[in-house]
Amino acid sequence: MTIKNAVIVYGSPRLKKSGSFHLGENFAIGLKKGGVNVEEIMVHKKNIKPCLGCFTCWTKTPGKCVHHDDMEEILSIIDKADLIVYTIPLYIYSVPGPVKTFLDRQLPLAEPYLIEKDGITTHPRRNKGKILKAFILSVAGFPEKSHFDAMIAMYKKLFKPNNERYLGEILIGGANQMADDASQVAYKKLYVLIQQAGFEVSKDERVSTSTLTQIEELTSFTPEQIIKFQKIANQYWDTFIEKDYTQGEITQIDEQPLKISDGGSSAYFAGMASQYNPNAFPGMKSIIQFEFETDSYYLLIDGDKCTAYVGSYSTPTLKIKSPEELWMKIVAGEISGQKAFMDGSYTIEGDMNLLLKMNKLFTS
Ligand SMILES: Cc1cc2nc3c(=O)[nH]c(=O)nc-3n(C[C@H](O)[C@H](O)[C@H](O)COP(=O)(O)O)c2cc1C
Repeated sequence: MTIKNAVIVYGSPRLKKSGSFHLGENFAIGLKKGGVNVEEIMVHKKNIKPCLGCFTCWTKTPGKCVHHDDMEEILSIIDKADLIVYTIPLYIYSVPGPVKTFLDRQLPLAEPYLIEKDGITTHPRRNKGKILKAFILSVAGFPEKSHFDAMIAMYKKLFKPNNERYLGEILIGGANQMADDASQVAYKKLYVLIQQAGFEVSKDERVSTSTLTQIEELTSFTPEQIIKFQKIANQYWDTFIEKDYTQGEITQIDEQPLKISDGGSSAYFAGMASQYNPNAFPGMKSIIQFEFETDSYYLLIDGDKCTAYVGSYSTPTLKIKSPEELWMKIVAGEISGQKAFMDGSYTIEGDMNLLLKMNKLFTS
């Protein structure tokens, strides 16, 4: 076994609540299973000052930087390692800034001289007795793998694949949600494969084609899936964008409001209106329209008042089109509203954000 000591470099500012962290921690499990000692470095928790470009580490104090910060200890860890695993989010086609600083600050590990290696000029390593190999794990928001091209080209240059120092990469697009606690169950299968990849690297210094193919099958997108992904991702972002609900326009209604004594669905919506919490979003002016197979209802929210009506409002803020039975099951918590939406069992027009505010707006 040539890989005895590995360093995992976690490069997300989201620290342990990040997709790249989950990839790295599972890869580490596989490496450890293969008998590798693993050191873990969370770049954003370290004090690492930017390189000054003074070349003091090459001239006055060879191998030592003018900065006395956490990089002193980190360089000695890297110097002993056989493998470095960068596990990072893609930021503007590249690595996050602090990871770039981390890369720059490894200059003391090289000597200033220029040599030719694999047909290209490079600097020799100061510690001649050691070879450092690399593996890259990365996640990105966009679904296409081509977004990683520039970053991977940089790492390949750094670890010169002709010299077998670049051991490979696992790149997962469309992975923003991999950071969410609620999404972890959905990634379980992938994490098992990442563990397997780490184990294979510890044994063979490469990930098998079978493991890579299975990872690819789980994480790649067809052109049709990309279009669907864009839609869902846009709705996802819409739910987080804060909006001013006090500016909505409301036309006064002459109709009679629904009452609980009306019975049936009318009673349900009258009941919902009575549960309205005016303190949730003070001054809100919004109309939530419900369209079932045969009947339509709407809730008119005007400041501290919410009133329910039968029929259709011409310009609702949010329109929910659903089979009535399904909607009632969602409300009763018998069916996951999110899953039913993803399955296309009901549709939404207008402000998705308002849908997600409904459990705050209506207290029971
Ligand atoms: C400053 C910034 C730049 C980003 N640039 C890109 C990019 O160029 N391409 C991309 O697909 N995603 C980009 N993203 C999205 C992240 O790669 C994505 O959210 C990723 O899943 C975050 O990983 P993490 O959970 O490990 O932090 C960017 C995110 C931020 C905050």
